[in-house]
Amino acid sequence: MSADIIDGKAFAAKLRERVGAVAADFQTAAGRKAGLAVVLVGDDPASQVYVRSKGKATLAANMDSFEHRLPDDTSQAALVALVEKLNADEAVDGILVQLPLPGHIDAQAVIAAIDPDKDVDGFHVINAGRLATGSTGFVPCTPLGCMMLLTDRLGDLSGLEAVVIGRSNIVGKPMAQLLLDANATVTIAHSRTKDLPAVVRRADIVVAAVGRAEMVRDDWLKDGATVIDVGINRLAPAAGEEKGRLVGDVDFAGASARAGAITPVPGGVGPMTIAVLLRNTLVAAHAHAGLDAPTDL
Ligand code: GUN
Repeated sequence: MSADIIDGKAFAAKLRERVGAVAADFQTAAGRKAGLAVVLVGDDPASQVYVRSKGKATLAANMDSFEHRLPDDTSQAALVALVEKLNADEAVDGILVQLPLPGHIDAQAVIAAIDPDKDVDGFHVINAGRLATGSTGFVPCTPLGCMMLLTDRLGDLSGLEAVVIGRSNIVGKPMAQLLLDANATVTIAHSRTKDLPAVVRRADIVVAAVGRAEMVRDDWLKDGATVIDVGINRLAPAAGEEKGRLVGDVDFAGASARAGAITPVPGGVGPMTIAVLLRNTLVAAHAHAGLDAPTDL
């Protein structure tokens, strides 16, 4: 058997296109563009790449992008002061503070300073609490993107066995909440889980978000399982390679012989994150302007 490839890149492109169209309608209705502010502290190369692509995607979706780049030695107080200024800025609908932050800054304190209704990352405890209690709020972009791919592939998830590997606040925990909300039977597995292969073998849905290259092996999977690979790991360069290959948390070649469907790395979950960020920002903009967002956004 050969698994279907879940094309996150194509799905994300469609979502970005839809967001761009709704953003144009928003501009007509609100008399201004929706706006996303992105704050980057320091010069972490990976974060710089992410922030640049977020800015480009925001502009391409008919929204305003406000980038704030602060030096590595910025104080926590100065960063919180900027967040408070953005909270009060009528042109800003969404605020994203790029993580990780330098070690001298308490990321939780900075996230706590963001107005929960502008917290398009869904990282604020208010939004985590809203998700946990089933009320409306912002959901972290990566797990929400995974959920869109899963429902597109499987439709109703009721009663399916889902195993989430990883328990981070950014992916694992919100992913489990979303699956639970969709009436799946959810297990969260992690580094202390006993006999992880046996746990994963029960799953109709596997979401791997551990950050360990190719950890999930083909013989861990139930035949026909739907596999969502959130990992992005760079292998050491092989002979003749300048850079190592990017791989996920799942052994893709092996798993594709057993799974029913699987996301590739790259081109699976990765492209969904920015598309969902733009979607969340547009939802925030509608609420901020007192307008109803389309229900299918
Ligand atoms: N760093 C890596 N991914 C993310 C993300 O989704 N949001 C923020 N704020 N920082 C990140």
